[in-house]
Amino acid sequence: MMTHKKDREKDIEICMHEGEEPEKYLGAVIPPTFHNTLFVYPTFEELGKAVSKEQDHYVYTRGTNPTVHIAEKKLARLERGEACKCFSSGMAAISAALMNSLKSGDHVLCVSNVYFSTMDLLNYMEKFNVTHSVVYATDTESIQRAIRPNTKVIYFESPTDHNFRLIDLQALAAFAKARDIRTIMDNTWATPLFQKPLTHGIDIVIHSTSKYLGGHSDLMGGAVISSKQIMSKLFTDEFIMLGGIMSPHEASQLIRSLRTLPIRMKRHEENAMEIAHFLSSHPAVRTVRFPGLASHPDYELGRKQLSGYSGLLSFELKKASYDAVRKVIDRTRVFQTGVSWGSFESLITSPNFGYNEVDLKKEHTSPGLIRLSIGQGDVNEMMKDLQQALE
Ligand SMILES: Cc1ncc(COP(=O)(O)O)c(C=O)c1O
Repeated sequence: MMTHKKDREKDIEICMHEGEEPEKYLGAVIPPTFHNTLFVYPTFEELGKAVSKEQDHYVYTRGTNPTVHIAEKKLARLERGEACKCFSSGMAAISAALMNSLKSGDHVLCVSNVYFSTMDLLNYMEKFNVTHSVVYATDTESIQRAIRPNTKVIYFESPTDHNFRLIDLQALAAFAKARDIRTIMDNTWATPLFQKPLTHGIDIVIHSTSKYLGGHSDLMGGAVISSKQIMSKLFTDEFIMLGGIMSPHEASQLIRSLRTLPIRMKRHEENAMEIAHFLSSHPAVRTVRFPGLASHPDYELGRKQLSGYSGLLSFELKKASYDAVRKVIDRTRVFQTGVSWGSFESLITSPNFGYNEVDLKKEHTSPGLIRLSIGQGDVNEMMKDLQQALE
């Protein structure tokens, strides 16, 4: 608990001030946004030196930019990593991390459900002779059993997509390291405030900054955080070469959003906890999938590796059908219907679109599953809305 408290205090400071150096910018209380694409040098020799060490010098904004750099410094420190690069989207970050870690002939083991576009990317990578398989279990033994001789990456989210099961980060990192397998984890759900996978031995952390880190539904971005060694290779290859970089404008929005991250996450957590309890006792609901509930199968594990719970959760209707799901979703008013999550507004959706129930079964997802992104609004209004929609 003490560590959590110290971490929390440190994180608040990082969110507000890390890397800003107002003395460099005429004392500006927020750093300026450097929209320029390039940086000029007094002599050709100096330019040459900077080009040879582009990661540490401002040369061209596709490589480094002071505004983007501030956001990267904050995210690296929040995750307790050595270095971070920010991307134009979460998917650009995931693509870079996977490409950096794999070559033809390698296999990726995916643990349980991950974001569907990540699965699409893994399917796409088959054309480069990179194969993958999914283990629909989250316990360490099952994951270990699913390893193949050519497995080079274990990729996962914790909590897992839709079903919100947790993976034991320390145990997974230990056995992967012993076999020289790289672990890549999407930590978007928890944010670095509530979970720090690198401190448990995970190799690479991914974020879609389009969710809580942005928090206002007005910012697309992604981030990769890891050791200096991994990030240095990733910088020269997947970052600067593929070019899916975060723009200085998005970075300044991200810096702005990070200032309020601690207070926003507290509100998401409090609201989500109340909604999860409310749904748990509702007669139309079979089960609620939220690791903050003591009844969750991974609650104890969560207490070890999570220091808080964000606002994305799911529940299953007793009537597990597309029609039942559709009716509930269409009746809500406070909850708006849309994709994405992690912002101020409250959202409702389901992976069951009526035409994909066969796929859902394969993915071990109930056809009665409804996903809620609990926003910053009044929780009593949210509960009233769900109550009337579930009637
Ligand atoms: C868990 C998770 N990771 C990554 C992404 C992709 O992020 P982006 O939409 O910023 O590319 C998403 C998008 O919804 C997501 O839910």
